[in-house]
Amino acid sequence: RTTITVSPAVLGFTAVAKNKNDVVTVPAGYTVQIGARLGDPIVGGAAAYKNDGTDTGYANRIGDHGDALFWFGLGTSGARDDTSSTRGLIVQNHENINQQYLHPNGPTSTGGVRPEAEAIKEIECHGVSVVEYSQAANGSWSFSATSTLNRRVTPNTPMVFNGPVKGSDLLKTPYSPTGVAGRGTINNCANGYTPWATLLTCEENWAGYFRRSGDNAARTAKEVTSLSRYGVTSSSGSYGWSTVTAADTANTTFRRWDARATAADALTDYRNEPNQFGWVVEIDPYNPSAAPRKRTALGRMGHEGCWPGAFVAGRKPAWYMGDDARREYLYKFVSSTAWAAADANATDRLAIGDKYLDAGTLYVAKFNADGTGTWLPLVFGQNGIDASSTVYPFANQADVLVNTRLAADVAGATPMDRPEWTAVNPVTGEVYLTLTNNNAANRPLNGTDAANPRHYNDPYGAAQTAQYGNPNGHIIRLKEANTEATSFTWDIYAFGAGADLNATNINLSGLTADNDFSSPDGLWFGRASNASGLVKPLMWIQTDDGAYTDVTNCMMLAAQPGTVGDGGARTITNTGSGGATATQATRIGAAPGANLKRFLVGPVECEITGVDTTPDGRTMFVGIQHPGENGAPATPSSHWPDSQATGTAGATIRPRSAIVIITKNDGGLVGL
Ligand code: FEO
Ligand code: CA
Ligand code: CA
Ligand code: CA
Repeated sequence: RTTITVSPAVLGFTAVAKNKNDVVTVPAGYTVQIGARLGDPIVGGAAAYKNDGTDTGYANRIGDHGDALFWFGLGTSGARDDTSSTRGLIVQNHENINQQYLHPNGPTSTGGVRPEAEAIKEIECHGVSVVEYSQAANGSWSFSATSTLNRRVTPNTPMVFNGPVKGSDLLKTPYSPTGVAGRGTINNCANGYTPWATLLTCEENWAGYFRRSGDNAARTAKEVTSLSRYGVTSSSGSYGWSTVTAADTANTTFRRWDARATAADALTDYRNEPNQFGWVVEIDPYNPSAAPRKRTALGRMGHEGCWPGAFVAGRKPAWYMGDDARREYLYKFVSSTAWAAADANATDRLAIGDKYLDAGTLYVAKFNADGTGTWLPLVFGQNGIDASSTVYPFANQADVLVNTRLAADVAGATPMDRPEWTAVNPVTGEVYLTLTNNNAANRPLNGTDAANPRHYNDPYGAAQTAQYGNPNGHIIRLKEANTEATSFTWDIYAFGAGADLNATNINLSGLTADNDFSSPDGLWFGRASNASGLVKPLMWIQTDDGAYTDVTNCMMLAAQPGTVGDGGARTITNTGSGGATATQATRIGAAPGANLKRFLVGPVECEITGVDTTPDGRTMFVGIQHPGENGAPATPSSHWPDSQATGTAGATIRPRSAIVIITKNDGGLVGL
């Protein structure tokens, strides 16, 4: 193993070129191994995966659309060991599905009714997996199909509610008439963690799974306002699961996805089921039988992630959360309990979660034009959040938390260009947030602000008119005195753009062929333990892009960012259709230059999402999500990971989301 020399640190690899190959490309001197893939057996002796659409039993297999992931170490005894870099549990979200590849010939329905067996597969492919990995003496990695710690959490797994909304009328369903329990988690996207070694998984685009339209007359005006604000408006639900006719008496397994307030009887009245989703959910990875807890104090939204700031003894810890939809907000939850370091080693981990995550203050961010900002508390009775609100009359704090977006509207938060992951610099404490992109309707020429400053006309001509607005996104960062602060300063770390584009109003960060990117989404700083001695810790940026995919597949970049204010105030001139222009003052950090380099490019039609390393920083795990997502069952558009070795594979081999395991051939720290 090489000695790591890190002061001053520099990115020690040669940038990977943009490409559209059907492989994961990494820099020279690095090796890619394939970890767990969609369908791989992990529980209960599930049969080997055939990958032809006939497989069943996904509650015992790896789910689809692997997303955020996190390493929890295991010692030689199999117990928790935060220092272990050779044996551990990878906990990964399974956000969504490529429905067409889960069935022999794609999804079917008869007269609009989905077959029960198909719906069961699709439902069970969602959720979270816990899988034990280990490294052999020769450096190769493998995962266990039989570890007693392996687990699948699905949309059917029993869960409990905690925090201020527990027991609220808003959570009551036929499954939980007292509003204290629920079934499962869905559309789990990014994540977070606690120092007492639990995972926080985040429910993002849950609203689309529900059938709801056509019941406004049976709803109160308040309910209609809320359901519309959250997008629970579908006439079918994403995959039509509520159409299944099944054997259980009340058909609640599938009927629960029909949230219309027009049920024939109380037994099938799931009008409140959408309120059971949109939460941050805490999972104890070391206890497969522990029911996950939904932490309602952290609010209900399209939760992207939930990343913590520093844990400082005697100070209240905070978690930073993006709400991923156009013109949604950035949030911070500050616990009401100051951190006591001994709690990191408690064995009843979810009880420690009760202590820190069930009471506190939820704030939403307001960005000011002068480079300052304010955290606005979302507390019943403050900032106009009360029964007199004409936006939405609130009844109590449970109502505020269930309807977090509406409370944030009333408080006057700043609408952002789709807030995705947050990441916290372990040395400076600065908070970074990806703003993946926005369209022209939601970020028009005359509707920019200092924190979301960019709108530009199609730089290539009329053929790409859909890309008006801020199609390439940006990464903003905040500096605050500590996790309890109610104010901050901010600037924009970098703007996504093609290197060939106009440096005066599009490529504002001076990106080059070595680091140009579009639509940042995943964002992560190397573990603090990797960074010991690092002058500038590594930050990793992952893309989920549709605007630059004519040139390159999605990618991951490594960065060593500076600090808020290392650039300065700047006024840009935005361009609209018909030659219109408008100026916008903003704050832009120093151009990243050689401190930002492309480290990885993924296979065809994938998104890169999810990253962690072992504590020693010498093994990196990355999620490759939905390769070939636009292909058909008989003619897949990607054959990855089967194509990894040579770039090609049999024309009918179906693609699978999977984890890749990246090591440096000299055994060194990944990225340096
Ligand atoms: Fe699931 Fe906003 O990404
Ligand atoms: Ca994302
Ligand atoms: Ca995204
Ligand atoms: Ca995706």
